[in-house]
Parts: sequence; structure tokens; C-alpha cells
Amino acid sequence: MAENKTTTEDKNTCDVLIVGAGAAGLSLALKIAANTKVRVLSKGKLSEGSTYYAQGGVAAVFSDDDSTDSHVQDTLIAGAGLCDEDAVRFTVDNAKESMQWLIDTGVEFDTEVNAQEETQYHLTREGGHSHRRILHAADATGREIEESLLEAVKKHPNITLMEGFNAIDIITTRKLNLPGNRVLGAYVWNRNEEKVETIKAHFVTLATGGASKVYQYTSNPDVSSGDGVALAWRSGCRVANMEFNQFHPTCLYHADAKNFLLTEALRGEGALLLRPDGTRFMPDFDERGELAPRDIVARAIDYEMKRLGVDCMYLDISHQPKEFIIKHFPTIYQRCLALGLDIAKEPMPIVPAAHYTCGGVMIDHHGQTDIDGLYAIGEVTYTGLHGANRLASNSLLECIVYAHASAKDIAHRISSHKQRKFPNIPDWDESKVENSDEQVVIQHNWHELRLFMWDYVGIVRTDKRLQRALSRVELLQHEITEYYSNFKVSNNLLELRNLVQVAELIIKSAISRKESRGLHYNLDYPNQAETTQPTILDPNRS
Ligand code: FAD
Ligand code: SIN
Repeated sequence: MAENKTTTEDKNTCDVLIVGAGAAGLSLALKIAANTKVRVLSKGKLSEGSTYYAQGGVAAVFSDDDSTDSHVQDTLIAGAGLCDEDAVRFTVDNAKESMQWLIDTGVEFDTEVNAQEETQYHLTREGGHSHRRILHAADATGREIEESLLEAVKKHPNITLMEGFNAIDIITTRKLNLPGNRVLGAYVWNRNEEKVETIKAHFVTLATGGASKVYQYTSNPDVSSGDGVALAWRSGCRVANMEFNQFHPTCLYHADAKNFLLTEALRGEGALLLRPDGTRFMPDFDERGELAPRDIVARAIDYEMKRLGVDCMYLDISHQPKEFIIKHFPTIYQRCLALGLDIAKEPMPIVPAAHYTCGGVMIDHHGQTDIDGLYAIGEVTYTGLHGANRLASNSLLECIVYAHASAKDIAHRISSHKQRKFPNIPDWDESKVENSDEQVVIQHNWHELRLFMWDYVGIVRTDKRLQRALSRVELLQHEITEYYSNFKVSNNLLELRNLVQVAELIIKSAISRKESRGLHYNLDYPNQAETTQPTILDPNRS
């Protein structure tokens, strides 16, 4: 598609290009911008990303009864033996400072007055946590964080927000056949003007969020199409643990409620999981009941639904006082009421849905990837924190902690990087492509991909299903590569190209894991192996 046509223009140059305007990208922008020119891309609406929809909150030790050791232990237990303990400790040790920074930036978490009449943060509880340690803003914590960060970013003179710009591919010296392997910028699809632009940057950070849209049913917004993983992979970065896809146990099952999550904090505040006949089932699966880690709860729901041949299970908080429900879960209460469901009186129908991508681009404690100057932060990454299953509310925490760590590293290196001159970078060449007259191909492949990923690479896997998925994804890869070479880019085509790449990485990682652990459950290997390692895929070796 893009052939060499050397540009003479030097516009669109910045110090740091951040791809993504969620919690991770915006936190980095604010931390780095004092002496640095920053551009932040978002491919859709500025606020649109998983961050905005986060409900439960952020995990951090704020209570005297709690300890960082306990937070570390809970994270390691949820991660089912596959966490990198250094990464866990690093994240947990930096949690309080990171939350204080959010508070200083304007985020308002809920407070309460204690028995001594002091105001303190109200801490809620979620599955796998042995203490109340979740800071939250009612049941709309993500909205509070995203809006506060955006407000601060918009006021900053050194930050340029670019809404409606898709990063297509990273530009590196290696791709241009120049010595070394350092980042030079990115090709970007300007959706507003329908043209591809070149942005040169001394540093590029991928903060593109997760890839749960690879599944038919997901709690995620449309932008979660795994772009960062695919971009990094095509640039030569290793990825890890892509087989660990987290399914949230409780999404609302309702024809008019696309993607609507019912926060785990509901169970933290006493909600029970019920069969259609009103009986509880979680105690049959785990002594922690409704507050067992998410992989266990999602699998139990899936098992009971298949065993009983029913479309959904139920979540019931109606035994709590109505005022309590409205105070703690105003968004959920109102949304359900608008759909004709009064959760203060009746249980909510629920199903599991793809929620979080535990694996991703491999980075170190500074967010640095395998390519000099290319960083990654947030859900797009593999840091080692989550292991085989992420502990609830550790994700937003990871976004902020690693944004701060990478800001420090970039600040340290920026003056030497700025001395370097950019080589000539070829413009994107569209001279050999035409407008597509067959949009149906893209749509069909979208549906096919997401459906077979749900059916064959979902909550419960088998070798046969994974092999079926692999042969289908290889066919799609072939078809989409051909399509991509002949037709002009569009958002759907770019996302599909990335999702198919990510699907292939998920399937290959799942095939290579010959055991069941955490979120990866394969009926052909139902037990945990005695020893384990993360699954690392290297594009330079495949
Ligand atoms: P996102 O917030 O997803 O932002 C991604 C950004 O990248 C967007 O701006 C998008 O436009 C941009 N982007 C993507 N691709 C491109 C591209 N090619 N070019 C340009 N821009 C691009 N975690 C918790 O810890 N606590 C919770 O309570 C919680 N609740 C959740 C509830 C829901 C419904 C969901 C979906 C997730 C929840 N999570 C929660 C997970 C958490 O919200 C996410 O992991 C986290 O917000 C990810 O932040 P991020 O900055 O990495 O990415
Ligand atoms: C939720 O509120 O249940 C989501 C929490 C998370 O994904 O960490």
C-alpha cells in the first residue's frame, strides 16, 4: 500500500506522540507536558474508551486495617501463579501516590464520615480483595477520572488533542532500512479529512486500551479493537499472555442494553447470584461465594447456563434498602429503571461478556517496549501485574502507575533524543489504491471473526475448537491483507486488520498453553501444570 515518496514538508512534528486519550494516555500527557510538546490522538470521540465506562473504582490501600502486603497477596492469588511479583509490588507500592495525584488533579472520590466524625474515603469491596480498598465515585468512577483528566489536559498549553485520528502504523528506522531500531513517528488516518498524515515524534507511546471487541459479546466500547498490540507486533515488539482474556461475570442481559456492565461492587455490597428458580449457586463452586475471583464466577455462570439450557442467570440486590442502592449505584439504578427493571424490587438478568485483555505489549517498569523510544502503557500492555487473571480494579491503577513511570523515563531521555535529526520519512502512498466498492466484505469478516472467537476461544476452550479458530483466522488474515493492499483505508478496515492480527495472537497463545490456569480453561488439559511461564510471542521469530 504505502510506497516511497519522500516528503519535503516538516509539519506535524512533536516531542511525544501519545496514541490514546484514556486514563493512561491523558495521565502521561499531563505528567510529561511541562517542558515537552505533546500530541494526544483519539480515534473516536475524545472521551470514548474503556476508562469512561469504568464503574467499580480503583484499588489502593487507604485504610489503616489494610496493608500493601495484603493487596500484593490478593493480586498474586487472583493471578493464579503467573504474576510477576516485582511488577505487582511496584504497582501496589506506587498506588497511594498515584491516587493522590489523581485527587490533586481534580478527581473526586466518594467520602464518608466515620465514627470519630472524620471525613475519609468510602472504600468499597470487589471479588478477590480481602479488604475494602476500592476508591470510587459512586458507580461511575471512570467517567469522573476521564472528565477530570480531560479538563486538565485541555487547559495545558503544551498538549494538542487530536480527535478523530487513527494511528495506522508506527514508523521506525528498521522499517526504513536505516541502522538501529528506534521510533520516528506514526502514519495516522485523519478521519475528519479522510487522508493519511505522517506525524514525526521523538517518542511514541501506545495507550490504546484493550482488545475485547474481538469477541461477539463485550462490556467494552467500540474503540477496544486491539490496535496498539497489532501496531507494536507489526513493528517487531514481543507480546505476552494473550490467551488470558477476562470475561466479566455480570453484564446486563437485555435486548436494548448494549454492553452495559453491572459492577462487581454490587456483589461487594451484598448482591447474590441466582439461578432462574431463585437459588444461589456460587457456594457450590467456591467458598468465597459471589466474591470469588472473576474467572471462577464467570465459569460458574457459564456452566450453570449450559447445564440448565437457559439464556441468563440473575443478580439480586433487592434485599438492600432502596436509598442505599440509589446512593451507591445511581447509574445502574437509573439505567435499569429506564429499561423497565426496578433493581430495588427485582433481580437483574445477567450474562458474562469479554471485558479485559490481560496480555499485551511487553514493557519494562518504565513502559519501554522492545523498540527504542516506543513506549506502551495501560490495558494495551503486559507488565506482569495481572498474571492469569486480573484482580478487580487493578487496571485503572496500572494505567496511572505506569503513565507516571514512563513520564519519568521520557523526561530523563528527552534532551538527548531531541538532538537527533529525523531522516527523510516517505509519505503514505495511495496512488495504487482505490475506493472500496465491496464494504460487505469488511462487515462479513467482522461478524465472522467475533462469532468464532466467542464460540471457539471463549470462556471454555478445547484443542479442537482452537484449531478450528486458527484455520479460520488464517483465511481471514489472507483475505484482509489482500483487501488492505487494494483499497483506501477506513476506520472499519483498520480495526478489522488489527483485530484479526490480535485474534491470531490470542489463538496461538491459547494453543501453546497445555494446562488450565486462571482465565484460560481448556477441557483437554483441565489441570494446572506444576510450573508455568508467561506465553511470549516474538514477531522476529515467527
Ligand atoms: P482506554 O480508556 O480504553 O482508552 C483507549 C484510547 O485509545 C481511546 O482514546 C481510543 O480512542 C484510543 N485509540 C485506540 N486505538 C487507537 C488508534 N489506532 N489510534 C488512535 N487512538 C486510538 N478497571 C478498573 O480498574 N476498575 C473498574 O471499575 C473498571 N470498570 C470497567 C468497566 C467497564 C465497562 C470496562 C469496559 C472496563 C472497566 N475496567 C475497570 C477496565 C479499565 O476501565 C480499562 O482497562 C482502562 O480504562 C483502560 O484505560 P486505557 O487508558 O489503557 O485505555
Ligand atoms: C466492575 O466495576 O465490576 C469492573 C471492575 C474492573 O473491571 O476492575
